[in-house]
Amino acid sequence: MPSPVFMSEKRMQPSRLLFCLITSSMFLLMLSFVFLFQSDSSSLIPESVFKLILLNNTSEFYSPSSDSEIDDKLPTSLPLLSPTISDKPRSGDLDNGCQGPNSNNETGDLVQGTNKVCDATQALLRVFMYDLPPEFHFGLLGWKGKVGQIWPDVSDPNRIPSYPGGLNLQHSIEYWLTLDLLSSNIPSVIRPCSAVRVVNSSQADIIFVPFFSSLSYNRNSKLHGREKASINRMLQDKLVQFLMSQDEWKRSGGKDHLIVAHHPNSMMAARRKLGSAILVLADFGRYPVEIANIDKDIIAPYKHVVRTIYGESVPFEKRPILVYFQGAIYRKDGGVIRQELYYLLKDEKDVHFTFGNVRSHGISKAGQGMASSRFCLNIAGDTPSSNRLFDAIASHCVPVIISDKIELPFEDVLDYAEFCIFVRASDAVKKGFLLNLLRGIKKDRWTTMWEKLKQVAHHFEYQYPSQPGDSVAMIWEAVSRKRASIRFRVNKNNRFSRSQLIRKHK
Ligand SMILES: *[C@@H]1O[C@H](CO)[C@@H](O)[C@H](O)[C@H]1NC(C)=O
Ligand SMILES: *[C@@H]1O[C@H](CO)[C@@H](O)[C@H](O)[C@H]1NC(C)=O
Ligand SMILES: *[C@@H]1O[C@H](CO)[C@@H](O)[C@H](O)[C@H]1NC(C)=O
Ligand SMILES: *[C@@H]1O[C@H](CO)[C@@H](O)[C@H](O)[C@H]1NC(C)=O
Repeated sequence: MPSPVFMSEKRMQPSRLLFCLITSSMFLLMLSFVFLFQSDSSSLIPESVFKLILLNNTSEFYSPSSDSEIDDKLPTSLPLLSPTISDKPRSGDLDNGCQGPNSNNETGDLVQGTNKVCDATQALLRVFMYDLPPEFHFGLLGWKGKVGQIWPDVSDPNRIPSYPGGLNLQHSIEYWLTLDLLSSNIPSVIRPCSAVRVVNSSQADIIFVPFFSSLSYNRNSKLHGREKASINRMLQDKLVQFLMSQDEWKRSGGKDHLIVAHHPNSMMAARRKLGSAILVLADFGRYPVEIANIDKDIIAPYKHVVRTIYGESVPFEKRPILVYFQGAIYRKDGGVIRQELYYLLKDEKDVHFTFGNVRSHGISKAGQGMASSRFCLNIAGDTPSSNRLFDAIASHCVPVIISDKIELPFEDVLDYAEFCIFVRASDAVKKGFLLNLLRGIKKDRWTTMWEKLKQVAHHFEYQYPSQPGDSVAMIWEAVSRKRASIRFRVNKNNRFSRSQLIRKHK
């Protein structure tokens, strides 16, 4: 049953359209002056626009002084673009509802400021979302709707079901994407017109599978009592069964389906059967290449757990620590390199190595440590990626990536070498190599990287509602860039079944 939000889609009336055109051209005129004099940013979004739209404190989920409370600190308390301002267009807003289709440009900068529902004809991506029962998504968060209610009401950003805090949050991508789709039909929620939910799957570019697989893994993979299979296992089996019976899946062999499996162990049971879908992953470390690969799938950032630094980022000379690393030292698989580096670096006075995970050491302490360091190490652990990279970016600490097989989010539009240092593992373990390299990076070069880091940091923020250029918008844009190859794979998949269909109709 479609939820009532779909009823709110409205067509624009002619007089409104005229008004819209006039006001928007005036705004555009004014804005062009603003850009002319202010824009010096080479980020995906002109900085001046971004300042108008992005609020400062959007990702301050954690109180800086307490770690023990992490589990209670939930993203519901997000300070947001307040719904009270959404009734009137503010000066400085670009009115996306009035923009022609040409202004939607797939290079990454969608800007929207008013309270109109993002129109399906103008959105970057039309997404059909299965109405899976709540046990697959918000039910896992303890949300209970009225009888027959499938989705929570997300029109008030302060009252959305919250995702558990702490380390669960780093894989919460499933939650932010689902919320964003739900909000795409709600006029009062201000968000970029990136993806829009459509009710007719024939009109969709992408079919989204709203299963909170990482949360299901984190919460429900243990067996209780005499159970033969965990709830996580049971949900995956049910999901496979459900998808295989859907016309949408049959039509494309699943190739236009988007499944989020960000925790490396999520979807373990189902992934072989669902591997034709586009997967949203943290990395490919635990996947055979025929199930997941960079051509087909999307790498999404972890949600960082340290507090985002906004205005107060510290310059080169005020950072006493040269190199910062925090994490487990002893790791299996690719992670032996951590141990070797530890013994190479541990006696250097300007190097800071802390043991243990974020939780035992304190998120705020880690954030402070990174923010007072020039370089932050990201060393391959038991998987090639970790959320440490995204903590470093949020702390404006130049990341040093020592992980030969890492895949990075949005690398087709972001040049990481502009704000990260890459070191081959085989080089990093040579005596003196790493410190010589990093000590040789002087103030000018470091500052250039730091400036770039500050420009791109907003691409690594998850928030509700989504903001232009943030991780959610970037993921939709990344999916949109795959549209041609999805079409290609679907058509090829259907060569024979379509021919057979025609013969049957004769
Ligand atoms: C935003 O953060 C600044 C400092 O980072 C603080 O002074 C200000 O009170 C915060 N504003 C809100 C609305 O929380
Ligand atoms: C998209 O925008 C970029 C820069 O804003 C521009 O260079 C490019 O030509 C645009 N592409 C299309 C298809 O409009
Ligand atoms: C869904 O869209 C297709 C293609 O645009 C159309 O033929 C079909 O009638 C639509 N179905 C419904 C129920 O509106
Ligand atoms: C946001 O940050 C900028 C730069 O740090 C500051 O000038 C501005 O006052 C801040 N705005 C709010 C609402 O906190």
